[in-house]
Amino acid sequence: MKNDMTIRIETPDDYAATEDLTREAFWNVYRPGCLEHYVLHRFRGKVGFVPELSLVMELDGKLIGHVMYVRSEIHADDGRSIPVMTFGPISIAPEYKRQGYGTILLRESMRRAEALGVGALAIEGNIGFYGKSGFVVASTKGIHYAAEPQDAEVPYFLIRELVPGFLDGVTGTYLDPEGYFVDEAEAERFDAQFPPKEKQKLPGQLF
Ligand SMILES: CC(C)(COP(=O)(O)OP(=O)(O)OC[C@H]1O[C@@H](n2cnc3c(N)ncnc32)[C@H](O)[C@@H]1OP(=O)(O)O)[C@@H](O)C(=O)NCCC(=O)NCCS
Repeated sequence: MKNDMTIRIETPDDYAATEDLTREAFWNVYRPGCLEHYVLHRFRGKVGFVPELSLVMELDGKLIGHVMYVRSEIHADDGRSIPVMTFGPISIAPEYKRQGYGTILLRESMRRAEALGVGALAIEGNIGFYGKSGFVVASTKGIHYAAEPQDAEVPYFLIRELVPGFLDGVTGTYLDPEGYFVDEAEAERFDAQFPPKEKQKLPGQLF
């Protein structure tokens, strides 16, 4: 762990700052502007949100990172519902990106999730980042992403067991928790409360 860095559970006093951090981290990354700060804002009161895994990272008392977790499930082909968790948004302040902090925050959050008895995590994300923390492409394990065709290789839909063998014998489909889908016009109105920021269409954005 880096010396003057701490990770702790988010409190209501942090809400405004973590939403601002999330907005700064995601702005213009996947689309012009972003929706993730509104997703976070909306999720705190929803079923499935895990308060003890909504974590802030501070460096010298300054907020530089945040992650939130949500309960979710795999609809197994044999009819079972397999409880797992997903997480995100996960954010590192722009000026602290690519210095290892995201990995530290991710791994500490995974350690805490494991301590809560979570068997596996599913996430849409970049294998370049998550692969270093043990995530694999879920379709290689027979877990399909509901938003894509059943037989598609979905390189951005990733999974990681926290309990070894938890997904042995499990194939099935994963659907994002409903709270990740927000109304874009509502998100726009929410964003208007923040300092103005220019939306830009940039190469590499997904939307
Ligand atoms: C993604 C994010 C949380 C990663 O945190 P970070 O502190 O920047 O990442 P780290 O320094 O721990 O990265 C470790 C390694 O992961 C890989 N990596 C990190 N970010 C990556 C990215 N965006 N794309 C591909 N690989 C990435 C790199 O290999 C990196 O090592 P390197 O810098 O030596 O090449 C952070 O960059 C962020 O907030 N991004 C914007 C929001 C976002 O995309 N969140 C995740 C959505 S799924």
